[in-house]
Amino acid sequence: MQGDGGGDGYGDQQGNGYDPEAKEANAVKEVKESKTEETEEEEADEAEEVKPEADEAEEVKPEADEAEEVKPDTGKDSEKKVPDPRPHLNIVFIGHVDAGKSTTCGNILFLSGMVDERTIEKYKQEAANKAGESWFYAFIMDTSEEEKIKGKTVEVGRAAFETVNKRFTILDAPGHKSYVPNMIAGASAADVGVLLISARKGEFETGFEKGGQTCEHALLAKTLGVDKLICAINKMDDPTVEWDEKRYNEIYKKLSTFLKKSGYKEDQMIFLPMSGLMGDNIKERKGTPAWFTGPTLLDALDGINVARKADGAVRIPMMEGYKDMGAVTAIGKVEQGTIKPGMKCLVMPTNNKCTVTSVFINDVDMQFATCGENVTLKMSGISDEELKKGYVLCSDKSPIPAVTKFKATIHLIELGPDRPVMTSGYVAVMHAHTTSEECEILKLYETMVIQTKKKEKNPQFARPDSVVVCSIKLARPTAVDTFESSKQLGRFTLRVDGRTIAIGKITELPKSASTD
Ligand code: GTP
Ligand code: MG
Repeated sequence: MQGDGGGDGYGDQQGNGYDPEAKEANAVKEVKESKTEETEEEEADEAEEVKPEADEAEEVKPEADEAEEVKPDTGKDSEKKVPDPRPHLNIVFIGHVDAGKSTTCGNILFLSGMVDERTIEKYKQEAANKAGESWFYAFIMDTSEEEKIKGKTVEVGRAAFETVNKRFTILDAPGHKSYVPNMIAGASAADVGVLLISARKGEFETGFEKGGQTCEHALLAKTLGVDKLICAINKMDDPTVEWDEKRYNEIYKKLSTFLKKSGYKEDQMIFLPMSGLMGDNIKERKGTPAWFTGPTLLDALDGINVARKADGAVRIPMMEGYKDMGAVTAIGKVEQGTIKPGMKCLVMPTNNKCTVTSVFINDVDMQFATCGENVTLKMSGISDEELKKGYVLCSDKSPIPAVTKFKATIHLIELGPDRPVMTSGYVAVMHAHTTSEECEILKLYETMVIQTKKKEKNPQFARPDSVVVCSIKLARPTAVDTFESSKQLGRFTLRVDGRTIAIGKITELPKSASTD
């Protein structure tokens, strides 16, 4: 690698609030729960059945040596709760426009008692007057007027539900090509993906073709750290399908071949047929025919296990920083480590020091939060202005590097007609975890054409459908890690004019990368 990009003509833009795709990517909306008293009571009963044993709860308690850092500034420790020891997973629902993502998410919330019958009736009427009656489950997730009228998700919808062994946050991504940056924001917070595929005649074909979002979403999810994919072949009830086993097998074959080529291994994929609208094979099999012997969607999700680095140095990429009744607050997801009140932290790449005073999960004051949790943190010693989306809150002893360049292996997917080859000097926007930054290809070290496996050293240019080893220069210092150290913080996508041109893994950081 060459020097560390000092005096590179990009100027010091650090901390000036510039965010190239903030408008598109800062988009997650909360879906309010709607319950009747009866469903709440029923849930309380169910919750008791699945309450973990006391000794299990101890397993997730933080290590003793970390505990000496705990000096909470606010609230008594005894009033703080210990997080539910059931693992928490974020699931992103992805796939081509109209595949049935919002409908399926809405039905999951209904079937798990988070939404009552009366609310469903209300949505049926509203949907009939807007997008069309069949959109009523989707309206649980699609809450804005624009989404309801067009019948299309724009912002990522967020809602929570539980199974016996897990707690889940649903992230309902938009399928439309214009909103890919929002989909990337959702997938960058996810552990597991549910790829919805419409089996309806013509719809599978459109979604799977070049330009369809089925393949682009699956590739993006893989690069963004979503290693487990449930491929839910939806709309099996449609009159053009009628639960035809041959249609299911045809889609299964085409899709599994594509996904294997994209790097998903056999044990990282689960295929199942379902109907989001009729609720078949979501919680129960209902009308699912005997030819399918696999799991329901919720059983498949319940059985998924994701490896965690709960004992690593703290890494929390931030979604947002703001003031709440005067208190400086940050929202993010714990990607690594365990965060506790009283912990001294560093915000990278800006190197600002701060202390976490309280840790909240779903508005509950916690003693700690570990990997996979979406947290709201109250902070001291820092302003909300210094807690921007894309910054990473870290342990002060072992912060994430802040770099202006790195070496990477990228997979070139497509390039625009105006610039059909990639050369050094090629400019794009890099998206990694919650950050996005302008970047430029510095040097091409090697290309390999995927189909022929033909390699070339120090090439002048690279074409789509090739793997490229290159170095990339960033416009401003950015907090990232190598893929080897942290999958979630070492993967990225390159986008140009709203199109994903490449996905990549960071292989090497400059030796002089600033970490203090
Ligand atoms: P975007 O948010 O725009 O990407 O779409 P989406 O994937 O969220 O699809 P949505 O849930 O909005 O559903 C689109 C249309 O497909 C609606 O008319 C739904 O009623 C219909 N649909 C969804 N799931 C099913 C299903 O299982 N069977 C049938 N027959 N129709 C379905
Ligand atoms: Mg939708």
